[in-house]
Parts: sequence; C-alpha cells; structure tokens
Amino acid sequence: MRNPFRTLPILLLFLGLEIALVSAQSTAAPHLEKRGAATQLIVDGKPFLMLSGELHNSSSSNLEYMKPIWPKLKAMGLNSVVTPLSWELIEPKEGTYDFTLVDGLIDQARHENERIVFLWLASWKNGLSSYVPVWVKQDTRRFPRVVENGNPVEILSPQGTATQEADARAFAALMKHLKEVDGRDHTVLMMQVENEVGVLGDSRDHSDAANKAFAAAVPTLLTQYLQTHRDSLYPDLKDLWNANGNKTAGTWAEIFGDTVRADEIFMAWHYARFIQAVAKAGKAEYDIPMYVNTWLAGDVTPPGEFPSGCPEPEVVDVWRAAGSSLDFYSPDLYDSRFELWSHRYHRDGNPLYMPETRGGAAGAANVFYALGEEAGFGFSPFAIESEANDKDPLAESYSVLASIAPLLLEHQAAGDVHGFVLDHDRKSVDFTINGYTLHVSLDNSFGGPAESGFGLVMADGKDAFLGAGKGFRVTFTPRSDSGPRLGIAAVDEGTFVDGKWVSGRRLNGDEDDQGVHWRFDPHQPRIEKVTLYRFE
Ligand code: DGJ
Repeated sequence: MRNPFRTLPILLLFLGLEIALVSAQSTAAPHLEKRGAATQLIVDGKPFLMLSGELHNSSSSNLEYMKPIWPKLKAMGLNSVVTPLSWELIEPKEGTYDFTLVDGLIDQARHENERIVFLWLASWKNGLSSYVPVWVKQDTRRFPRVVENGNPVEILSPQGTATQEADARAFAALMKHLKEVDGRDHTVLMMQVENEVGVLGDSRDHSDAANKAFAAAVPTLLTQYLQTHRDSLYPDLKDLWNANGNKTAGTWAEIFGDTVRADEIFMAWHYARFIQAVAKAGKAEYDIPMYVNTWLAGDVTPPGEFPSGCPEPEVVDVWRAAGSSLDFYSPDLYDSRFELWSHRYHRDGNPLYMPETRGGAAGAANVFYALGEEAGFGFSPFAIESEANDKDPLAESYSVLASIAPLLLEHQAAGDVHGFVLDHDRKSVDFTINGYTLHVSLDNSFGGPAESGFGLVMADGKDAFLGAGKGFRVTFTPRSDSGPRLGIAAVDEGTFVDGKWVSGRRLNGDEDDQGVHWRFDPHQPRIEKVTLYRFE
C-alpha cells in the first residue's frame, strides 16, 4: 500500500522554504524595486505609498516641541513624515555622537504609527552651511569655504576632502545607529542626503583648489558616461555637448563651452562626487534608499541665483555619472507648472518622489497627478505642521488615496492608471484605458462648470473603471467604432475597508446625468466605480 506520509517531508520542506522566503522579504530593509511600469518603495515586503509632509526646518530639533505635532499629522492622514536632522546636533563635539534626538523622534513616530524620512542637514542646507557643527564652521583651514569675488563665504567648498570625510563619518555613524535601533522595525524609510545644495552668489567656486580643477581635464568617468549614455542624455545637456563639438576630452570650458553652463556642470560634478561618497559611507552601514532634492531654477535664471550644481534636470546625468549610491533625484516643486516639472524628474529610471511641494488646495489636487500619472511613490508638502488638521483639503485627498493605495500601486505597475488636474487652462484630457478612450473634463451641473477638478482613473476589470477625485466627468468611447452602442450600466460610490470594496449610494440619477456621464461632483473627493454595457 502507498504510504500517505511519504510526501510529507517534501511538503514540509517547501512550506519551510516559502515561509523563509516570505519572512526574508518582510525583514528586508526598505528598498526600491522596479515593478512593471513603476519603481516602488518596498517596505516589509510590500509596496508603500508615502502620503507625507515635510516639517519646518527646526521643529524636529526638539522632542517636546514635536510631541503635540505627531498626533496632528496622524489625524491629517499622513503615513510618513520628512523629518530634519542636523549634523551639529548629533556630533556637537568631533567624534562624540549623541543619538538621543534620533531615538526620541523614532519613538514618537512609532507611537503614532508613522514612518520617517530623515533629512540629513549636514554640509549644505539651501546652498549654505548653517547646520554644520561649530567645530567645522570655525576651522576654515581644514574645512575650506567656497570663494566668491576673492572672499570666502559661508558655504563649504565641495573641494574639501576633510569636509567630505567628516560628513561621511558622521553620516555612517548615524546609519550604523539606525540599523541597530530600526533594522527590524523599518520606521525610517529613506534618507535625504543634504538639502538643496549648490553655490549661491556665483556660478562656481573660485577657491584656488576649484580654479585648478576647473582648468584641468574633465574626468574620464564623466566623458565616458556622456559617450555611453549619448542617446538617453537629458536633451539640454545633449544639445550643449553637441553645440561644443561632442568632445570626449578637454577642460570644462572646452567640452561644455566658455559660459556659466560649464560652471554649473563643474559644480554639479563636485557636489555629486562629495555626496555620492557620503551616501556610500552610509549605505555601507545600512542600505536604505537615499536621494538628493533640488531647488528648481526655472527656465531663465542663471546659476548662482539658484544653487549652482543642484541636480536640476539638465545635470542629473552628471550626478549619475559621479556614482551610484544615490538612488534618485527629486524636485522641490513649488512652481505652478506642476506637470512639466514632475515629468522632467520622472524619466529614464528616475522615479518621482516629491519631498517638498505646496500643500492645501494645490497639493490636494497635484497629489493625484503625481501618483496617478507619473507613478510617484511619495508626496510631501512642506511646512506640514502649519496646515495640519483633518479639514485640510490635503487631508481629504490623503484619506481617499489611503483607501485605494493597494489598488493604485497595482495599477501603477500595470501602467493602466491616469491622473489629472483640470482648471481654466486645461479643461479636459483624453486617455486610453482598457480598450476605451476616456474623455475627462471639468464637471458641469446645475450651477455651471466646476472651477477646477482633479482625480485619477484606472481599469477595474472588463468594461469597468474605478475613479477617485472631484470636479470632473468622464465620457467613454470604444476604440473600435463598430459594434453595439455603449451605455453606463451603473455608478456606485464606495470605499475600501481592509482592502474590500464597500458600496455606498447607487448614483444613477443626477449624479451620473441619468447615465450620460460618469461624474465626480466638485464638493468633496470620492471614490466611484462605473460599469459599462452594450446595446443594439
Ligand atoms: C526649500 C528648503 O529646502 C526648505 O528647507 C525650506 O527652507 C523651504 N525652501 C522654505 O520655503
């Protein structure tokens, strides 16, 4: 007779392997993963959508000050907080580290079930060097300054080897500590390394060391990168290189032209080399995603009026050529051309994450575009504690997005979700999803057209869609004209509770124009499902 237990050990072995695999995935440190059409942040084995905010610069320097803020942020629907942390407070005396503040912030965050992105305010903050310890500030020989018009200014020079080593040493000590206290819980998701770096007041550093480097040949690491990435270079950089003869060797002015653009590229290279090295030292201790943020220049501002060398879109390639320890580059996006700038940063392997942007009504709308259209994995308005309350428009948007987050992440990966912001300048937009063309326009009901609208739509099975947002309406056209006519079978509002759809009202009257449009009224963001049908 066959022994029914003969296969048992094999089954148990497979079960054991599977459990080991699942637990390895969930204990892995937060990391980025390419999933289909999107690059997502994986936390505890699952993609995580960061509905965040960034604190004012100084709030997190004091635990007492922060105490009442965490519950406010929670009530507002944030699941993560970009939290400044300065070098001067963790290494007040050279070689002596104090992580009391770090541990306190992590404890407070855990208490409210929040996650953290630490913002490493070290050698540079908005171009300047105000957050370095005073022992660094005072020792200008060991830690040299940028020189402008013959004078040292309060900006550390990225030429300073000792500066780079000291910053990297402190950052590595911090990352080592984070691994010890958080390597299992993953309260800390990512690190921003420095803040809006670049030279202000001049287009480049004119210290002796910088002048010497500027007159020397462009490093082959960079010229080789230009050659091997020729086809995918950011168009402005490609055009500049082209306009100067596509040279593969020469000085900065020879390869990039004798203008301030060469100065900007030179500074980008030196900041990038410095910060890639700091990130590398940190990752050697604890490898979680690390990024650099950008003070956006606008299209006509000369370098020096914005921090020259900052990872503006046209020099992101230079930063990438300088190392691979930084995972991505982010815009601090306050400009009203939100779509344009988002798109400039969501390209060629650079996922969109926004550490600073506008909150309130603008943020409440833009977050749908960033996460829905550009597969963003995080959104974080600045000065979040100033506006934090559960009536804030951003809170309403976050509540809807939190409910659909697992689905949205799935559809980002599948590439069949679209997000949009509509207003006077852009009244409609068309998408193709699931074999239908969707015409999305500002809602229009008894009171006339809505002033603005925003949202996202995604496929929800055959002939069905899920949408979220407010102030818009959708009409559907099948991609092939032939065949039966198309109608709306039903529209339902609802929400997700523990991942399960719970229907609310059936909306087949005025709310969907008696079956003519799928509508989202302008009052409050909602989640709705629509099913289409055919008739002869
Ligand atoms: C951008 C900076 O990165 C922030 O730290 C903050 O200073 C804001 N600007 C202020 O608007």
